[in-house]
Amino acid sequence: MPEKDRTSLTIRRPDDWHLHLRDGAMLQAVLPETARHFGRAIIMPNLVPPVVTAAQAAAYRDRIIAALPEGMKFTPLMTLYLTEATDPEDVRAAHAAGIATAVKLYPAGATTNSASGVRDFEQVRPVLDVMAEIGMPLCVHGEVTDHDIDIFDREAVFIDKILKPLRKKTPDLKVVMEHVTTQDAVDYVRDNPKNLAATITTHHLIINRNHILAGGIRPHFYCLPVAKREAHRIALVQAAISGDKRFFLGTDSAPHTDAAKLQSCGCAGIFTATNTMSCLAEVFEVAGQLNKLEAFASLNGPMFYGLPPSDDTITLTKGDPVPYPDSIETPDGPVTVFNPGFDLHWRVTG
Ligand code: DOR
Ligand code: ZN
Repeated sequence: MPEKDRTSLTIRRPDDWHLHLRDGAMLQAVLPETARHFGRAIIMPNLVPPVVTAAQAAAYRDRIIAALPEGMKFTPLMTLYLTEATDPEDVRAAHAAGIATAVKLYPAGATTNSASGVRDFEQVRPVLDVMAEIGMPLCVHGEVTDHDIDIFDREAVFIDKILKPLRKKTPDLKVVMEHVTTQDAVDYVRDNPKNLAATITTHHLIINRNHILAGGIRPHFYCLPVAKREAHRIALVQAAISGDKRFFLGTDSAPHTDAAKLQSCGCAGIFTATNTMSCLAEVFEVAGQLNKLEAFASLNGPMFYGLPPSDDTITLTKGDPVPYPDSIETPDGPVTVFNPGFDLHWRVTG
């Protein structure tokens, strides 16, 4: 059947390789939005205080599983927040026990709750060496934090100044460049096939920096790394639809209440868990590559992480525009759902 006539698509159940679930009441409210469609997710550890040790990750995993509504199946894949005081043997033990799937590197000060992140990369070398030895991936927030580097250049500078030297010193370390936003990052991943992959968010496939700033400031499109110019967005779409195994979905769905977003210094983060699969189907359909959605959302991620793809499926069906809510209610206040700016015709029906 020609792609354009397709009205139904069945794919392996997708996974989200970068997700913020928070804790407490917010966790309870947002978890079903992901678990409804996704089988597994890499859970970000930037809680307050952060999830640093194996014991903290195990406790957080238990809270996530306890928050899961009756009848929903979902596997949280936990990460450890890398600090300069992280004990390499704790990381080794967390991996061996199946508690932690990956370690998360935040350069100190790069984004929400990253103050305990890494300033001096030499301090974490023993941890990186152990991870390379045991095959545990490092998930990287790839932005420098220097105040004299323009925010739109921070990803490209990170690749040159931090990532290249780091990977040269530890070539056996598996690295996921998370939420890539630039042609530079796409090229770097394409040109370096060994032990390197990248996640791409739903929103970075859809918005560019004009969406945030042209004709008024739109805080609900503000996230980190900040969306770049249109040429970069196009490069991300090309990578996502290419079928290249090193690119896969990590939504970076990051709930903040409207009160936290809509203020003079609003939080970074876009909440896409609710409508991600509809958004992605639309993007892939418009690009004429619906048949590549399964690789991006369901196959490439598990392959890089050395896990089997889901043996379950979901079905997306095309029809009238899907009436997604503008926001979801939480006990902390409403959380605005990402508005892609176009109708969403695909919905998960099974
Ligand atoms: O936009 C973002 N929000 N980027 C991040 O790196 C962190 C995240 C959050 O935790 O809200
Ligand atoms: Zn994130």
